[in-house]
Amino acid sequence: MKETVLSGIRATGNLHLGNYYGALSKFVRMQDDYDSLFFIADLHALTTHPDPKTLHSNVKNILAEYLAAGIDPDKATIFVQSDVPEVSELYLLLNMHVGIGELMRTASFKDKARKQLGIKVDAAEGDIEREIIGTNSNKRVNAGLLTYPTLMAVDILIQKAHKVPVGKDQEQHLELTRRFARRFNSYYGVDLFPEPENFNFGDHAVKVPGLDGSGKMGKSEGNCIYLIDDEKTLRKKVMRAVTDEGPKEPNQPVSEPVNNLLTLMELTSAPEVVQHYRDAYANCSIRYGDLKKQLAEDILKVTLPIRERILDIQNDDALLARVTRQGAERARERAAKTLAEVREIMGIRKFY
Ligand code: TRP
Repeated sequence: MKETVLSGIRATGNLHLGNYYGALSKFVRMQDDYDSLFFIADLHALTTHPDPKTLHSNVKNILAEYLAAGIDPDKATIFVQSDVPEVSELYLLLNMHVGIGELMRTASFKDKARKQLGIKVDAAEGDIEREIIGTNSNKRVNAGLLTYPTLMAVDILIQKAHKVPVGKDQEQHLELTRRFARRFNSYYGVDLFPEPENFNFGDHAVKVPGLDGSGKMGKSEGNCIYLIDDEKTLRKKVMRAVTDEGPKEPNQPVSEPVNNLLTLMELTSAPEVVQHYRDAYANCSIRYGDLKKQLAEDILKVTLPIRERILDIQNDDALLARVTRQGAERARERAAKTLAEVREIMGIRKFY
């Protein structure tokens, strides 16, 4: 029997090149060899973006981007998290076995809690706790944010997934998922949930840098190339990317901003092209204008066809309805089975 792979992306905006190389392109490779489920985490989006005006269009964007990137609804199950209400019920049940202490110690919670409260990144844990308890402001950390890891664990466990391709920032959530699975199994003396592992395809995890000179591409960093960017926008962004003042002496180490552009090139350009610019840096003949033009050209070759498909798919309501209905049916069937097992194990039974 094929192993089950599952992953999801939060519905909070458009997908960028980092998502494409870090996640989507891997999903596409996995769908042939694994029993695969890829979903859009709209309930998770509510923990930070509870805006009814944009939620549905954010879901639609990611759905179109999944399909445009090559996830095939006949090979993989593609679904929207909120279309599987069994997830919400198991979330309640699993929470009975999750400690608020372990949730409060989760790195992503501390980060986002600080952001929601508008307090310093390095604020002491006690500060967050006091703020959480305090009611003298309209800033609060919602309980959904605290239990984010429970919901994510449920996404995974309800489908009995074995492999979960996620980035480094999600590793701690996966560790918690394993702990919750073990805990449930051992508390009830059952062997219900497999312990899922991360999965990055054997090759080292790709880190896709942003255009602002340091760090990785990220929605909140404002340094992204989006799959949906049109030609003009994309060229402008690349031409404005941060570089340095140029190499001062032959063979000096490549500065971070330039290295980031070369890393993007490695993802999108031919190896000879990358080598050409590395050599040009080493012998001090590099011209950043040329490098950027070439880079923009090569990125466009990847993203423009995807962009066109995204636009087509977004206009095809019948397709979107068909894919999500079929996905929801498959995902629910499996989820309902697991939920029935959990209810039985926990002693929830009916009189009728
Ligand atoms: N927390 C993930 C992220 O922000 C999204 C997610 C939700 C997820 N549920 C999941 C990823 C289950 C993998 C499996 O990227």
